[in-house]
Amino acid sequence: MAKKIVSIEDIPGVGEKTLEKLKNAGYIDLMSLAAASVRELSDLVGEQTATKIIEVARNALDIGFETGIEVYERRKQVVRLTTSSKSLDNLLGGGIETQAVTEFHGGFGSGKTQVGFQLAVNVQLPPEQGGLDGSCLFIDTESTFRPERIKEIAEASGLDPKKVLENIIYARAYNSDHQILLVEKAGEIIKEKNVKLMIIDSITSHFRAEYTGRGELAERQQKLNRHLHMLQRLADVYNIAVYITNQVMARPDILFGDPTAPVGGHVLGHFSTHRVYLRKSKANTRIARVIDSPYLPEGEAVFAITEEGIRDAE
Ligand code: GTP
Ligand code: MG
Repeated sequence: MAKKIVSIEDIPGVGEKTLEKLKNAGYIDLMSLAAASVRELSDLVGEQTATKIIEVARNALDIGFETGIEVYERRKQVVRLTTSSKSLDNLLGGGIETQAVTEFHGGFGSGKTQVGFQLAVNVQLPPEQGGLDGSCLFIDTESTFRPERIKEIAEASGLDPKKVLENIIYARAYNSDHQILLVEKAGEIIKEKNVKLMIIDSITSHFRAEYTGRGELAERQQKLNRHLHMLQRLADVYNIAVYITNQVMARPDILFGDPTAPVGGHVLGHFSTHRVYLRKSKANTRIARVIDSPYLPEGEAVFAITEEGIRDAE
């Protein structure tokens, strides 16, 4: 009788070398293989092997068609992470949700990074306080991570700032390939460190800086696509929340429609589950608007960036 397949080591015909390649690329369990596309795996192991491995993993996990009730059961595991602003939470249907990629975009100083810091702290709170009892994986592409500010936000939430910083696993991405690699490797850390929130601040800056020529636009989109696809998969497989930021330039010349020039083209719009547009308002207040979300109603919320972190506006 054939051996029951319970881990990727059990897949027949997969040798040491292939196994190592897969693991190095972040495919550490059957779930990550089952959710992979042949195209992604082909680069690593060739198309034939890729097709076979994915099929075996899917059969082992009994993945393919699901009934409505199974989808329902999976969706029931979705949990929400508070932003520390009731008004912003309400706009988001209760907070940033797991199994989804949430993108905040806006001009400089609109609060994208500050919201990220608040979430990195809040994810460590117990569920009854709006947290997910987990740690945060923070990928920083712009060197704007500030532990001192995190410390301040943690203290304001009554948490031990040292512990909070210990539960933020930080990586600086030096270029877009490095950024992609870090995400590919994330699965293992997510499992090991009980990561419940992954942040990439920002998702687009390296891509924008590196692919400048007209002829490179298609390649940039394609790479970003795959990157975002990978993020969505991590969100689904590990039931984590993914928060990404995207700087957009305000275009005062455009009076109607979307007054921003989206940096990732419209690519991000297709792949992030939820998109929120941030803009500055009076003093320390900011206005958030939900844009084409599959199930959140369109609307706006006002919040403030205070010494304590993100809060409702007075
Ligand atoms: P870019 O990364 O430049 O695109 O901007 P961003 O959207 O990430 O903006 P960010 O989150 O950095 O918000 C900057 C704003 O937050 C500033 O204009 C300040 O008003 C506020 N802010 C930043 N740091 C602090 C801080 O330590 N204390 C307080 N009270 N406010 C801060
Ligand atoms: Mg920022």
